[in-house]
Amino acid sequence: MLKYVTHKDPHTKEEWIETTLTGKQLLTMALLNKGTAFSQQERIELKLLGKLPCRVETLDEQVNRAKNQFARYTSNLQKYIYLNNLHDKNEVLFYKLLYEDLTETLPLIYTPGVSAAVKEFSHEFRQPRGLYIDYPNRDKMSEILDNRTHAEIKLIVVTDGERILGIGDQGIGGMDIPVAKLVVYSLCGINPYHAIPIMLDVGTDNQDLLNNPLYLGWRHPRLRGQEYDDFIHQFVELIHQKFPNSLLHWEDFGIQNARRILEKYRTFHCSFNDDMQGTGVVTLAAALAAVHATKVPWHEQRIVIFGAGTAGVGIADQLYGAIVRNGVSPEKARDQFYLIDRHGLLIEGMSMAPFQLPYARKGQEQVKWQGKTDLLSVVKEIRPTILIGCSTVRNAFTEEVVRAMTQGVAQPIIFPLSNPNENSEADAADLVAWSQGKALIATGSPFMPVAYQGKAYRITQCNNALSFPGIGIGSIVSQANEVTDNMLWAAALAISERAPVLQDPTLPLLPTVDTITELAIDVAMAVAKQAMQDNMANLKPALDLDTFIQENIWRPYYRAIKLKK
Ligand code: NAI
Repeated sequence: MLKYVTHKDPHTKEEWIETTLTGKQLLTMALLNKGTAFSQQERIELKLLGKLPCRVETLDEQVNRAKNQFARYTSNLQKYIYLNNLHDKNEVLFYKLLYEDLTETLPLIYTPGVSAAVKEFSHEFRQPRGLYIDYPNRDKMSEILDNRTHAEIKLIVVTDGERILGIGDQGIGGMDIPVAKLVVYSLCGINPYHAIPIMLDVGTDNQDLLNNPLYLGWRHPRLRGQEYDDFIHQFVELIHQKFPNSLLHWEDFGIQNARRILEKYRTFHCSFNDDMQGTGVVTLAAALAAVHATKVPWHEQRIVIFGAGTAGVGIADQLYGAIVRNGVSPEKARDQFYLIDRHGLLIEGMSMAPFQLPYARKGQEQVKWQGKTDLLSVVKEIRPTILIGCSTVRNAFTEEVVRAMTQGVAQPIIFPLSNPNENSEADAADLVAWSQGKALIATGSPFMPVAYQGKAYRITQCNNALSFPGIGIGSIVSQANEVTDNMLWAAALAISERAPVLQDPTLPLLPTVDTITELAIDVAMAVAKQAMQDNMANLKPALDLDTFIQENIWRPYYRAIKLKK
C-alpha cells in the first residue's frame, strides 16, 4: 500500500511529502512522480540521479510538451487514451493539463467521451486502475480491499456496470465511469490519494460482451436476487468497517437496484447515488433558474417526465421537494406530476416499480386517460410548463409534442436529458425552432449554440459535474453521517444562485463546465454548512468553514518530496 505523509508548514501553508519510495519505484508511482521536474536535490536524495535527462523542468514546461503531444491525436478515443496514459504516469501533470482547457478535456475524459472508452474497454485495456471485486472472489473481498494502493480512503466510487450512461449493460467496461467520476472529483479538489474506484463484477447480460473472446470481466450472466443482495451487503459492511468516515458514491447501477440499495444503506453509511441525487440536484438547479426566468410560480407548474427510471424519478423527487418547500401541500405537489414510462402515463392499478408509485396518477383518473396515455396526448391534455426526458428514446420530443406544449405555455421549459447525444429526446436546434425561440432548454450532453432568426442561443448542459463534486466534497469535509435531502437542496440552491440567466435572460440556465472547480467549492460550503445545521457533521472545524474547506482542497502542483528516514 502506498504510504506517504503530507506535511504542511503552519506559517507558509506550503505542503511537502515524505516517502520511503526511491528510484524506479518512485518514477512509476503516478501520484508522486514528477518526471523531469524532480529537482537536483530530490534526484540525489531519492536515488534518481541518472534516471532522468539532466534538465530540470517546471510543471508549466511539462504541460506545454504534453499539450503538443495531445494536439497530435485526432480521434476522441485516441485523445482519451493519451490522457489516460498520462493519468497512469504522472497525476499532477495529468490534472494540470486537464485544468488548462476544461471545455475541451472534460467532455473527453468524462461524458460523453468516456462512453466510447467504456465500449472498447476490453480491446483498449492497458493498465488497471482501482479495484475489481468479482463475485467468484467474494470470499477474498476483505483482502482485495486491503490490496488497494493508497492507505487513507475518504471517497469510493463504485459501479456494477449495469446501466452505463444511456448505453446499457457494459459489464467490466463500466469501470471507466468511476474512474472518470473520480477525475472530476479531483479536478474539483479531492486528493486522488484519498479516493478509489471500485468495480463490482457480477457478470453481464450483454451477449456481445459474453461472446467477445477479448472480454475481461467475469463471463457469466448477471447475478440477481439474494446472491446479488448478499454480495452488495458484504461490500457495504466491509467499506463501513475499513473506511468509516468515507463517502460511498454509487454509480450506474441498474433500475431495479439503484434506488433500493441507496435507501437500504443511506443511513448506515454515508452514501450518495449520482444518477438519482446528483442528476436530481443539477436538474433542480436548472429548473429553479428557469422558473425564476419565466416567473410562473411553483404551485402553477405542470411537470411531465418522460422516462420514469432512476434519473426521471430522482428528478421528480427533487422538484417535488422544491414545490413543497414553496408552501404547497404534499398532496397538491404530487398532483403537479405526470410521469410517463414505456407503457404510458403512470396510473394507479398499472404494474409499476414501487419507486414509481408515489407519482402515479390517482386510480379514478383511469377513465379520463383511457387510450390517451402516450406523450403527445398527455402534453395536449396538460399543456405542461416543464417537460423532462430521461428515457434514452431518441427524438421522442417530436415537433408535434413541442408545438402542442408551446401553444399553452409562454416559455416552455424543456430538458431532453438522455445521454449520449444520439439518445437525446430532441436536438437542441429543433427545440429552438419548433418553440420559435421561446423554450428554456437544458440537455444531458453538450450541444453547439443554435442560430435562429439572427439570434444565437447557448444551450445549457445539465451536467452532473456541476453537482456531485461539491456534494461529495461538502459531505467528506464535514464528515457527514448521511447525505440528507436538506444537503441536496442546499447544493441545488448554491448552483442556481450562480446561474448566468439571472444576470442576462439570453444566457444559460446553469454555469458552464469550465467553472466546475470554483462552483464545487461554493456547493461544498453550502452542503457542509447544512450538514452541520442538520447535526449530521462529525467535524467542528476550529477555523471558519470557508478557510477550512480551502485548506483541505487538493490542487495539482508539485510538492517537495523528501526521503522518510
Ligand atoms: P433507467 O434505465 O433507470 O431509466 C430509463 C427509463 O426510461 C426506464 O424506466 C424505461 O422504462 C424508460 N423508457 C424506455 N423506453 C421508453 C419509452 N419508449 N417511453 C417511455 N419511457 C421509456 O436509466 P436512467 O438512469 O434513468 O437514465 C436515463 C437517461 O438519462 C440516460 O440516457 C442517462 O444518460 C440520462 N441521464 C442524464 C443525466 C444528466 O443529464 N445529468 C444524469 C443521469 C442520467
